[in-house]
Amino acid sequence: MKLCLGFESTAHTIGVSVVSFDGVVLSNERKLFTTSSGGLIPVKVAEHHCSHVFDLVSSSLSKAGVSISDISLIAFSQSPGIGHCLRIGAIAARSLAALHGLPLVGVNHCIAHLEIGRLLGKKVSSDGFSSDVSCSDPILLYASGANTQVIGFEGGKYRVFGETLDIGIGNFLDSFARSLDLGFPGGPKVEVLARKGSSLIDLPYSVKGMDVSFAGLVTKLSQLAVKGCSHEDLCFSAQEYVFAMIIEVAERALAHTGKSELVLGGGVACNKRLQEMAFKMCEDRGASCFIVDNEFNVDNAAMIAWTGILQFSAGDSLSLVNSGILPYVRTDDIEVSWR
Ligand code: ATP
Ligand code: FE2
Repeated sequence: MKLCLGFESTAHTIGVSVVSFDGVVLSNERKLFTTSSGGLIPVKVAEHHCSHVFDLVSSSLSKAGVSISDISLIAFSQSPGIGHCLRIGAIAARSLAALHGLPLVGVNHCIAHLEIGRLLGKKVSSDGFSSDVSCSDPILLYASGANTQVIGFEGGKYRVFGETLDIGIGNFLDSFARSLDLGFPGGPKVEVLARKGSSLIDLPYSVKGMDVSFAGLVTKLSQLAVKGCSHEDLCFSAQEYVFAMIIEVAERALAHTGKSELVLGGGVACNKRLQEMAFKMCEDRGASCFIVDNEFNVDNAAMIAWTGILQFSAGDSLSLVNSGILPYVRTDDIEVSWR
């Protein structure tokens, strides 16, 4: 059985995973840099990743029940992300590839969210999941801390059909939660409070063409909190508005491309209300909605290893001199060899 060792290190998470070439995730280890107030200082995150990466290699190999000599390929997240963080995964990957004479592949993090959705997405149905349906050519609604993008494969490339014009939806939820003193990460705290809210408060709804904007909403919500609006209703309303905004754009991407599958990805895709709204939208238009387990929604190395396998199987690989990190590369800059 051929195996790939994957490294994820675009931002808060350092992850190492072993995935087989036939798509079985044998291990998926991760450590998350956190502070009680949120936010990150790149140098500190890089130190964190540096101090954990080789322990994660050991635990990932041992959980998979293999040793480094069983590995056939090394993949790492090469783009996009925070330079300080990307560099740690890249150095670890390059070192092991050079030491063991293994081929090396660089992966785009955003595309990896879509590829893991194609591999592991479970089709949602009104009474749970249909296990026997696989996801082949979806639109990805990628909703994470730093990123909010609607992505699909069209004309030989992964295209961004819509995205945030300012902050990511997760960063919006985190800033809003911080303004209510809910702690970090804010998304799950907002989700819990939102379940107790019921009255929908008027908020700005900012969809601009295929793009969305969240920055002004934090100010508006903070002002309403100061005026005494209940935190439960504010959380409920914030979720209803921002999730409706991204679902609208995702629906329009489905309509324009004629695709009939939606997959969710990114940390915010763990949110049950977002999953419910995505399913409802898909059901209404006769499309299929897929979600992955939470460990594959949040940043993870399994998606990097799997996308690396797809790329390598199509002939991609990097020489060490060409394996520099690419922090600013966009999804639609990537040459797609494997589809
Ligand atoms: P990326 O580098 O891809 O932008 P990231 O570093 O932000 O990712 P993720 O793990 O993908 O990391 O996402 C983290 C975000 O997900 C945080 O903003 C967090 O508040 C949010 N989040 C996590 N769980 C939930 C939830 N249940 N509901 C809403 N938001 C959530
Ligand atoms: Fe991500």
